[in-house]
Amino acid sequence: MNLCIIGSGYVGLVTGACFAEVGHNVICVDNDQRKVDSLKAGRIPIYEPGLEELVQRNVSAHRLHFTNSIEEGVDPSEVVFIAVPTPPQPDGSVDLSFIEKVAREIAGVLKKDQYRVIVDKSTVPVKTGEKVADTIKRYNKAGSEFDVVSNPEFLREGCAVPDLMKPDRIVIGGNSDRALALMKKVYEPFNAPILVTDINSAELIKHAANSFLALKISYINAVSAICEASGADVEKVADGIGMDRRIGRNFLNAGLGYGGSCFPKDIAAFIAISDQLGVPFTLLKEVQRINSDQKERFLKGIREALWVLREKRIAVWGLTFKPDTDDVRCSVAIDVVNDLVKEGAHVTAYDPKGMDKVREFNLLPDSVKLAASPLEAVEGAEALILATEWKEFANVDLLDVKSRMHTPLIFDGRNLFAPGTMRELGFTYRGIGRRND
Ligand code: UGA
Repeated sequence: MNLCIIGSGYVGLVTGACFAEVGHNVICVDNDQRKVDSLKAGRIPIYEPGLEELVQRNVSAHRLHFTNSIEEGVDPSEVVFIAVPTPPQPDGSVDLSFIEKVAREIAGVLKKDQYRVIVDKSTVPVKTGEKVADTIKRYNKAGSEFDVVSNPEFLREGCAVPDLMKPDRIVIGGNSDRALALMKKVYEPFNAPILVTDINSAELIKHAANSFLALKISYINAVSAICEASGADVEKVADGIGMDRRIGRNFLNAGLGYGGSCFPKDIAAFIAISDQLGVPFTLLKEVQRINSDQKERFLKGIREALWVLREKRIAVWGLTFKPDTDDVRCSVAIDVVNDLVKEGAHVTAYDPKGMDKVREFNLLPDSVKLAASPLEAVEGAEALILATEWKEFANVDLLDVKSRMHTPLIFDGRNLFAPGTMRELGFTYRGIGRRND
């Protein structure tokens, strides 16, 4: 099938590459000409395992094309996906101006006697599909036939390619049989369960799913505080809860709290949506509160151990919001470093993939040193903070770490290390929700 994806960010690019991989002919549109040029050459602007090879393979096979022209993308394509950003506004509600603009632009290039399915893949508030349809109708001078469909994306950064190639489910929300039939054809090669709903339900599924996952994380983080106060071990508690198949062990990893470009934004958006609909979802405010408390409790533990932070040399391992990505947006690790610096600590940080983005977006003060390796970062440090659970950190020679540190004190914000082993090696170890002695 001929498909068009408008917006070549995380979701648009991975979706386009995976659609091409299963044999569709895909045109990705982006208004950033430099990005288009580099994608045409097979260079991708983000670190995502497996994505660069996928893009290069499909560009060479002439199944994946890039352009900055919406007309060039829409004209030959039966199905047009919108995958542009939906950033948050200061009050937490969603800024839909990119979606609205793209809807007008699509309407302007639709031709008479051409039926097109317009699919919203961006995360949008419930009832956006209706507005997109109204907008296209209003600006579509040619009077072309079209349908609007909602098809939310559930991929995770760091494992976006396998998530898209082997999804748990595909949600398609639409009210037209003709559009639904084409959508099923798009997804046929993926061999995954398809849930067909109305547009509003599909839109709501995305916000409800992300909020539920964030709720699970905040739940276990709240339990971790009780574990710390009572001497229980949150990892064991999570295993015990998670072995119940009704609950499941996934997303029960206690830590510094959730971050990234999705959960914080989507939970705030769902709160704003529910407020606007007159049915405030107050439980989600508690989810947010627990999430920010988690970082504060962690910092309090550091202050208790080091007393005064001014002039203390602190090493931080991990700056990205999760492992296997170079994404540092809304990263709790970055917040922790900034808080330490505000209190006068001298921080040296290391991250396997995130440091270029930290420099590019100027996310840390100049006083923070970025080390070339985890071992360089700990040189002379009075404490080491593990803020992101990259596999690389699990493989570092810990005796070497200990010998380089001024004081062998570790704050493990992601429970990567086994407390017993750390103590045997001679470290003072502080985990999340674990007995500290
Ligand atoms: C999330 C959802 O998992 C995806 O399904 C969704 O498509 C995506 O948002 C989106 O809306 O686009 P993502 O933000 O890439 O994906 O990453 P996650 O793996 O969900 O992690 C989010 C945050 O939660 C990270 O900061 C991670 O460290 C934290 N987390 C995750 C925990 O603290 N504990 C856990 O057990 C799991």
